[in-house]
Amino acid sequence: MNYEDIFRERGAAYAHAMAAWPDARREEFLIPVDRAPLQTGDVVVDVPAGGGYLQRYLPAAVRWFGHEPCASFFDTSVAGDQPLLPLPWADGFADVALSIAGVHHQEDKLPLYREIHRVLRPGGRFVLADVHADSDVARFLDGFVGRYNSTGHRGIYLTATDIPRLEACGFRVVAAERLAYHWWFATRTDMADFCRLLFDMQDIGGPAVADGIEAQLGVSQRDGEIGMRWELYALTAVRLE
Ligand SMILES: C[S@@+](CC[C@H](N)C(=O)[O-])C[C@H]1O[C@@H](n2cnc3c(N)ncnc32)[C@H](O)[C@@H]1O
Repeated sequence: MNYEDIFRERGAAYAHAMAAWPDARREEFLIPVDRAPLQTGDVVVDVPAGGGYLQRYLPAAVRWFGHEPCASFFDTSVAGDQPLLPLPWADGFADVALSIAGVHHQEDKLPLYREIHRVLRPGGRFVLADVHADSDVARFLDGFVGRYNSTGHRGIYLTATDIPRLEACGFRVVAAERLAYHWWFATRTDMADFCRLLFDMQDIGGPAVADGIEAQLGVSQRDGEIGMRWELYALTAVRLE
């Protein structure tokens, strides 16, 4: 099953998790926003956008455009699935391009990098944030999640080799950072239920999911909240002329 098919099945559960705990991944969405100095009126493209979750973290004065290939992320508002590429925007349309947790579904990332280069204006910024291949998060997703979810999980995660890949597509990479942060919840049960839905894990109870998260990722406490440790690798790039 390819990833378009996987998300056709899983998108609704993912959207449900994001609707029920809309701020759990707040720190994650702020990573690209903080790295893309946004100006009034900027056009920001977001791909793949899921259900458009990033929007709530953008300043009101920017214009957001999301592209999501799988219609199951939306209730009934989108007629059907659409290809990821080509991106649905004109050359030089965007000031900023953001991509969170999507490219690990793509074996060959160069066609997407080239398309993002095309839709960005010269000097525009691309912030790419996804799982690093050598991380607890990658091991958690391909191991624990893959064992229990309906479709399995095998990511093609980012490494430092994505820097020359981006450079080959006409970008200058100005920062490459491994960033650790948390997904925050009111209770351990919420944490487990969110992950069961987001990753569509079946045949495993909430307490066992929470145990797996604690053992493989670790958790922190803050003001009565529980945070599961998460990490992404963020590459910030500028489109050359
Ligand atoms: C983990 S979600 C991330 C969505 C959103 N950016 C977020 O952070 O919640 C993974 C995304 O990858 C998309 N996707 C599916 N097949 C893909 C592919 N072949 N290449 C890139 N993305 C794909 C899915 O539709 C989904 O939006």
